[in-house]
Amino acid sequence: MKIKSKTGIQELESQGVIQFCDAKGKTLAGFAELEKELKPFVESGEFGTTLGKTLYLPVGASYPFDRVLFVNMGKEEVTADDFRKMAGKAWKAIRSMNIKKVAISFDGLSKEVCRALQDGLLLSSYQYTALKSKKETLPVELERLEVVIGDSGITQETMDQWKAIVNGTNFARDLSQMPGNLLYPKSLAKIAKKRLADDCDVTVIEKKELKALKMEALLAVAQGSEKSPCLILMDYKPKNAKKTIALVGKAVTFDSGGISLKPSSGMSAMKGDMGGGATVFGIMSVLKAINYPHRVVGLVPAVENMPSGSATRPGDVVTAMNGTTVEINNTDAEGRLILADSLTYAARYKPDQVIDFATLTGACLVALGPKVCGVMGNDQSLVDKILKAGEKVGEPFWQLPLFKEYKDMLKSDAADLSNNASSREGGAITAGLFLEHFAKDYRWAHCDMAASIFDKADDLNPAQGTGAGVRMAIEALKKL
Ligand code: BES
Ligand code: ZN
Ligand code: ZN
Repeated sequence: MKIKSKTGIQELESQGVIQFCDAKGKTLAGFAELEKELKPFVESGEFGTTLGKTLYLPVGASYPFDRVLFVNMGKEEVTADDFRKMAGKAWKAIRSMNIKKVAISFDGLSKEVCRALQDGLLLSSYQYTALKSKKETLPVELERLEVVIGDSGITQETMDQWKAIVNGTNFARDLSQMPGNLLYPKSLAKIAKKRLADDCDVTVIEKKELKALKMEALLAVAQGSEKSPCLILMDYKPKNAKKTIALVGKAVTFDSGGISLKPSSGMSAMKGDMGGGATVFGIMSVLKAINYPHRVVGLVPAVENMPSGSATRPGDVVTAMNGTTVEINNTDAEGRLILADSLTYAARYKPDQVIDFATLTGACLVALGPKVCGVMGNDQSLVDKILKAGEKVGEPFWQLPLFKEYKDMLKSDAADLSNNASSREGGAITAGLFLEHFAKDYRWAHCDMAASIFDKADDLNPAQGTGAGVRMAIEALKKL
């Protein structure tokens, strides 16, 4: 997909010209001269008054294209978020007419809205097609985006950086969509190595070394599976970097629940239980493209959680890397176990800040619903940066409290901690409290990304693996 900047409407070569208007037909993003083409349809009522209504209309012979897609933005006061979503809707309308080349205008728009329009088009055009044999029967892909820059001040370089960030999101989506038979710890490491070869150093810590490191919590999750676990380390280290940031991502390539087996309905969604890891890979793939100035270390523990004769039994006790003994009362609460050892390992880099991403609890999905991710941490300023960054790019996060009184719920009769809280209530918080025990000696935030593998698509996202967190994290990292 190519993005081309253009100086005026007469230069456009696309048939997919998109114009965003309010319900009265006034141009909000587009070309004011096209308003007259829409006017009769506003007067006849065909353009309607509701957000998201579209009309694809023929226009006069004086333009280098013969039709325009008019998008009704409903009201006059529209947010960047509205533009992002409506750009997504517009692409799907254009796509249904088999048009692959789209044109928009940035003239008169704020930087935030320009980005929202571009992101909306690029995010919505994502499809996971790798496993479809008849590609010709699939909806067309966005081939080229023409942008009339106008007075927006946006440069080609800026547009290319925005595109690189969405490409990072799409990399995360591709990984999340891959089924468990194709994506397992070793294949994930291989894909990451290949894709990130030019972006950062990638090393893989194999099972033998994990044992030597005494990562028993991580190993306990993997021991029921035929697939060996690994810890994938990525190091982006620009010259003169002053700070070090560590990003930790849960990658359970399939979470059956283990001996505490999940119910069969909806279990296939657990191929996406590596979504947090996918987010970290997506972020790592963007850093060089945006010339990020600080060192960023990515740590992705990759395991498969399966029941078998060698699997961890409920009630087993393991010693985590930091010496904490953990009673594994529920083998389905596995994410916190692999994160525990990874958070301990992260301290080796003496990071200034650590952010973890994990599809950690169904409870977070219950608490916040499918469109908002949870965030909690031991440093309010870091959490605030995540909240603000998420809002800016349209990946909403909501803070949950690490309420100390709930720590009691993680008590174990046999060991220092239980991995399964004594009550289901506040499950996202008790999971966060469990992690907090291991996130020592640094500022830390935990993002519960369970919402990112929800099973319904929307204007911008595919179902089961939205790649959420990549765009938020890039914004947050810029503020660190
Ligand atoms: N991967 C799941 C959490 C999850 C559920 C993510 C649904 C996305 C959608 C996690 O490993 C899990 O099973 N958590 C348990 C924890 C419980 C046993 C304490 C849960 O949420 O039920
Ligand atoms: Zn689980
Ligand atoms: Zn899980």
